[in-house]
Amino acid sequence: MTDQVIKIASDMTTAKSALTKIPDPCTIVIFGASGDLTQRKLMPALFSLACEGLLPEQFNIVGVARSDMNHEAFRDHIKKGVSAHSRLKPKGENWDNFAKRLFYVPLQYDEPAGYKNLSDFLNHIDQDVGGACNILFYLSTPPLLYPVIPQMLGQVGLLHEADGHWRRIIIEKPFGHDLASAIALNHTLHEVCQEEQIYRIDHYLGKETVQNMLVFRFANAIFEPLWNRNYIDHVQITVAETVTLGSRAGYYDTAGVLRDMFQNHIIQLMTLTAIEPPAELNATSLRDEKVKVLKAIRPIKPEEIKQQTLRAQYRTYRDEKGVAHRTRTATYAALKLYIDNWRWRKVPFYLRSGKALADKVSEISIQFRHVPHLMFPQVNGQLLPPNVLTLTIQPNEGMHLTFETKVPGAGMRTSSVDMAFRYERDFGKDTLPDAYERLLLDALQGDASLFTRSDEIELAWKVIDPILKGWDEPTAPSVHFYESGTWGPSSADAFIENDGRKWFQTHVME
Ligand code: BG6
Repeated sequence: MTDQVIKIASDMTTAKSALTKIPDPCTIVIFGASGDLTQRKLMPALFSLACEGLLPEQFNIVGVARSDMNHEAFRDHIKKGVSAHSRLKPKGENWDNFAKRLFYVPLQYDEPAGYKNLSDFLNHIDQDVGGACNILFYLSTPPLLYPVIPQMLGQVGLLHEADGHWRRIIIEKPFGHDLASAIALNHTLHEVCQEEQIYRIDHYLGKETVQNMLVFRFANAIFEPLWNRNYIDHVQITVAETVTLGSRAGYYDTAGVLRDMFQNHIIQLMTLTAIEPPAELNATSLRDEKVKVLKAIRPIKPEEIKQQTLRAQYRTYRDEKGVAHRTRTATYAALKLYIDNWRWRKVPFYLRSGKALADKVSEISIQFRHVPHLMFPQVNGQLLPPNVLTLTIQPNEGMHLTFETKVPGAGMRTSSVDMAFRYERDFGKDTLPDAYERLLLDALQGDASLFTRSDEIELAWKVIDPILKGWDEPTAPSVHFYESGTWGPSSADAFIENDGRKWFQTHVME
């Protein structure tokens, strides 16, 4: 790392602490507190924020779930999760200070009495410990409870904002099962609170590298003039995972890869790649621009399902515990989408994602057009490889730009080289906080920029719904199969090669 880069990196760290606003005194109430997400992500994130001094002096965390547990048992349970999953380990004073702010309230989600009890408990810690007037509710429960819990909270007045105190609610994905259910859920929520109180979380938006897409595009002058149909041939977005189902068959077999990964994470990545520069960096401006892109995505017509979508299952999926016999649920999909606006007209976006693939990697690659005229002779009139810009979301977070150079020596032979930027190399190891740290802090600060607004959610479903419907038709293209540990079915190669293009090799191994 050069001295200059070190200086920039250290300036940024200083600037970060100076710029971070500490949230108001508050209580965080987590529904589904005995579950996996709380253990693996939420508590480790809150613990890291507390250790870094980013939480207010007066804050409490109340875990809520069905199991019977006292505060001490809950603290022990959470300590195990934090030990296993937090980037900062629970030791000494840091843990003791955090642990004494953890409480547990058992509750049956559909029984009003439990919510009255919760409300009394929140009043009680408000008086005893201080800080419960502002409340952030986090719904980390099975999705069936998303309409139930807010209604119950509404009935006991817990979502009512008064005397300058805020009440916010974070809702995990999946937000709805299709367009109709997402509209219904929005409707139910709007009966008990304002849109501004609702934070629909998509953890991909909390990833540093995803936020960097905005900085990359709008803080550099050199790429923006090229960022359109005149210079870009196509865009590829790959979100590949090595994991299979784990213990999530009950959810996954009814969701499949389209609902699990495309409707939210991948459509968000596509939207951020394509948006126009917002006038200001705030929740309204940013989300307004995202909505414009979502409105312009051309829905796939029934007769286009065969050419523009492909679905597959890893070969052993049907043997997994809990999946339906002869299930047709897709664990892999590839889509070709278009955005009908001036910037992107006729530029295909190829999206692919799957489980049980060869590597875990998320990348966005932008392939620029070939040079218009080639004066360097090529074997058999071949074209030179075009420039490709890759934003590596994870792992090995960074960027790559390939371009042509002359091979040293006689003649005019050319070769592609890679210019790379790596977060780890330039900013140091372990500088990337977990996405949940960023998102929880933003919600506590009342910044909804990285959360999804109701219209965004519905528009994303409008893109996915026709594909789900098309796949349910008797004439639907068949489900392909692929071996675990590969890059998907061979038909996925044909899918893009039919357009004269190829999937890029990912940068995961570098
Ligand atoms: C979740 C999906 O939203 O994202 C999971 O439900 C998936 O199926 C996960 O494994 C991937 O997230 P990440 O951050 O590991 O890429």
